[in-house]
Amino acid sequence: MQKKTVRDIPVEGKRVLVRVDFNVPMDMEAGIITDDSRIRASLPTIRYLVAHRAKVILCSHFGRPKGKVVEGLRMAPVAQRLSELLELPVETADDCIGEEVKTKVKMLGGGDILLLENLRFHPEEEANDPSFAKELAGLADLYVDDAFGTSHRAHASTVGVAQYLPAVAGFLLEKELEALGHLLSEPQRPFACMIGGAKVSDKMGLLQNMLRWVDILLIGGGMVATFLKAMGYEVGNSPIEVDKLELAKELLQESGGKRTAKILLPVDVVVAPAITPGIGSQLVSIDGIPSDSLIVDIGPNTIELFSNELRRCHTVMWNGPVGVYEVPPFDHGTRSLVSVLSSLSNATTIVGGGSSAEVIQEMGLGDKVTHVSTGGGASLRFLEGTPLPGVEVLLDREER
Ligand code: 3PG
Repeated sequence: MQKKTVRDIPVEGKRVLVRVDFNVPMDMEAGIITDDSRIRASLPTIRYLVAHRAKVILCSHFGRPKGKVVEGLRMAPVAQRLSELLELPVETADDCIGEEVKTKVKMLGGGDILLLENLRFHPEEEANDPSFAKELAGLADLYVDDAFGTSHRAHASTVGVAQYLPAVAGFLLEKELEALGHLLSEPQRPFACMIGGAKVSDKMGLLQNMLRWVDILLIGGGMVATFLKAMGYEVGNSPIEVDKLELAKELLQESGGKRTAKILLPVDVVVAPAITPGIGSQLVSIDGIPSDSLIVDIGPNTIELFSNELRRCHTVMWNGPVGVYEVPPFDHGTRSLVSVLSSLSNATTIVGGGSSAEVIQEMGLGDKVTHVSTGGGASLRFLEGTPLPGVEVLLDREER
């Protein structure tokens, strides 16, 4: 990796500000973290710093409180879970800057851990306000960025602080950049990219970049309707993005060219009158979508077609459910393909963050693939070739 990591600088006895992404899914009513993968993923960096007797000052955002204190978005449940996982005490603070925080930092000994309060309780965080960044940076001697999931955001804690402190990557950030970077450098071919999700507009950059890089592009999810419409099919009540029809046409025209991937779309789909649990559905061919229904999942012939393609590939990247995953039984297509993906023992298999990561963890198959990214938006930006501001600001290997 071109960036310096926490291994490259002395940390013993130093106050180290570590930006983590503890923005974890939570059952708000019960106050229970439903997926602690992001906390687990940060453990190697924290353990390394503790083992090297650094004074560890963790900071993160949680949810989108829009610059105000929101009681339900405090970091306390995260601190508790982190403490359980580390089997070490984790001190908390009522804020992320200010006198109380400074006092708590002064009291830290080597190997102690302090988790600051939600950064986004201050509007200055997302505004990348220089004085806020300076105050945050003033708590520490070094900055370690381990928040891959937030590295596409140019905020005070991801970009601003690097103006004031030597800034290096943590082990999670390093791992993510290596795993995803492998896809863009020397992937073993054939290389398939399976892209799902509701909208073409969300995945535009990814579709464009991958079309010119991978060998097979499998497309599922709600965005299929826009592609089918662009091909002249009737899609009933399925939402389409009229302003993306031209783009869909262009991608389809380019598909299968000398330097472009072959695009595969579903050949059959499950349709229903509405996206409602328990509602009746039917299986139709793509040229038989009824006018009063919408696409909710891919059909069995498509599952077979996509599975066969995946099985002959040596590299597979998956981003986005291929049906309405949240409303069973419309999760069937996604579950089937995720099972195939996790059975490809001779291929490098990479899963994008966000909903894809949640699906594979929920199915208990996260450890059956090569890498599950902790970043939804960040992995998308990275794979569409957009520089990540949180990574750009870190010291290069040759810098001091
Ligand atoms: C995420 O969950 O994708 C990251 O934590 C970033 O969160 P954000 O989209 O609210 O900036």
